[in-house]
Amino acid sequence: MLLVAAACSQAGHEEADTVSIIPQPRYVQMDEGTFRIDKDTKIFLDEPVEEYMRIAGFLNERLLAAAGFSLEITDEMTADGNVIFFMNAGLPSEAYGIHVEPNRIVIDYGDGAGAFYALQTIFQLLPEEIFADSRQRGVKWEIPCLAMEDAPRFKYRGMHLDVCLHYFDVDFLKKYIDIMALHKVNRFHWHLTEDQGWRLEIKKYPLLTEKGQWRKETVVGSLNSGVYDGTPYGGYYSQEQVRDLVQYAAERYVTIIPEIELPGHALAAIACYPELSCGLEDHYETATKWGVFKQVYCPKETTFEFLEDVFDEVFELFPSEVVHIGGDECPKASWKACPHCQALIRKLGLKDEYELQSWFVTRMEKYINSKGREIIGWDEILQGGLAPNAKVMSWLGEEGGIQAARQHHEVVMAPHQKYYLDYWQADPDSEPLAMGGPTTLKTMYEYEPVPEVLTPEEARYIIGVEGCVWTEYMDSPERVEYMAWPRMCAIAETGWTQTGKDWDGFTRRLETHLGRLDRLDVGYCKAFFNPLIVFHNDTKYSKVVTMTVDAPDAEIRYTLDGSVPDASSPVYDKPFVINRQQTVTAAAFRNGKIIGEIRTKHF
Ligand code: ACM
Ligand code: ZN
Repeated sequence: MLLVAAACSQAGHEEADTVSIIPQPRYVQMDEGTFRIDKDTKIFLDEPVEEYMRIAGFLNERLLAAAGFSLEITDEMTADGNVIFFMNAGLPSEAYGIHVEPNRIVIDYGDGAGAFYALQTIFQLLPEEIFADSRQRGVKWEIPCLAMEDAPRFKYRGMHLDVCLHYFDVDFLKKYIDIMALHKVNRFHWHLTEDQGWRLEIKKYPLLTEKGQWRKETVVGSLNSGVYDGTPYGGYYSQEQVRDLVQYAAERYVTIIPEIELPGHALAAIACYPELSCGLEDHYETATKWGVFKQVYCPKETTFEFLEDVFDEVFELFPSEVVHIGGDECPKASWKACPHCQALIRKLGLKDEYELQSWFVTRMEKYINSKGREIIGWDEILQGGLAPNAKVMSWLGEEGGIQAARQHHEVVMAPHQKYYLDYWQADPDSEPLAMGGPTTLKTMYEYEPVPEVLTPEEARYIIGVEGCVWTEYMDSPERVEYMAWPRMCAIAETGWTQTGKDWDGFTRRLETHLGRLDRLDVGYCKAFFNPLIVFHNDTKYSKVVTMTVDAPDAEIRYTLDGSVPDASSPVYDKPFVINRQQTVTAAAFRNGKIIGEIRTKHF
């Protein structure tokens, strides 16, 4: 690249003094002027091979939809300007640099992931209309002049989806992956097997999907309601669909990590092939409510044969180096009552059922390692001893992650108190049914995934973070999007951004970013614009009230008599006390106008 750097011209351009990128890049230096993409702009590819053609194609796809033109792709160096250069600058994987000048953009990368992430940032530097799927008239497709250097903090930036408690079709999964990729999230943890349904076609065991996809009905409301809907529920993914999705994800630099649960959460498989169980019951049925079930795999040779066969097909479908073997919530009741299991414990000289579980997982790890793959499992795989090469996904809290890191095993942090997206994100009094929490956007944003108690040497084993979407109470794509976004933006930023937390900066960028999610038709939760009213227990006759709102530069105005607050209502500025006759009605205001919804909370 020997082009002479031209000074950025300011003529006729409003300089954007800030940009709003999520996740926040490592280094941004704003300059004056803008680069405008028009129909004569060219894309220069340093490496005009399929991978980079595809990345350039993503830019053209958006431009064609929103701007009505696409750009010529060339591998001929030109000095004329009005070019977006993609240059292999030998950067580390996933890293990129962007230099925007009035007559050119230079994107530096070291691999396709870096070039792809640069493009995701370019999209966020353009007007939000670039995310529209229809022609936007009168938009100037301008990018502010700047210099940017960016690289991820963690190599593992994950988002999970449970498709067992509820099933989601492949089109939705593609959209899910698209939105992940926009946030530079690079691992899709696909939770495919459960007590309530088996969703992955396995050719050698056709019953797993013919039968195991089904449950005869589903609990209504919370898991203990005792009320069932009487409607069979099923759904599965054919191997052809899986291959298609794996490729779709790979083209967006997302690795799919399949999860095949063992030894617990196996009831759907056992309902198809009862010989996989300890055989203590006459009849096994796919679960119809949520929770943990005592019917687990029995560690018999035939069970291992089955699991090895399943993983053989999994390896054919998923190129991921790492597969998730579950390992969580495996009750020991069946193993305690099973003569085979008890004899095995004695024969192997094991102390108890926890050591049997460890032996089970280690045996599976040996097989999986022999096929050139590695395992990751939930915290409970620490019980009875960690398998020699296992990675741990820490969900119970941080303790498992800390223990594993101290044993020099890699760890992904997904503590449920901070990173479970099935928890309430706003006041449960006014939100749909959820699993726990509340876990607000701010709580998620502020979570620091490297525990302070780790030494720097141990801290290196924390390889990343993951947001988990368990779908007990999400029976539609709309519900998933509502629960996942924008909180997942916070997790994505923690996974990517090197610099410390900046809640105020995040909320400012997020407000702009929500406009992009609107264009992308992501049905995120809008609690960001609403007051969160919290009643703190005081006396029998009184509550202490605090209120917060995430949206920046907003004030909360409220009433205590049930009337709708307006621009003349009192502004909340400190905690106050209410009595039993009072109801708090509040809204967030900017410039005298309500920006979100009116929230009411009754004593
Ligand atoms: C889990 O939530 N059972 C990993
Ligand atoms: Zn058994």
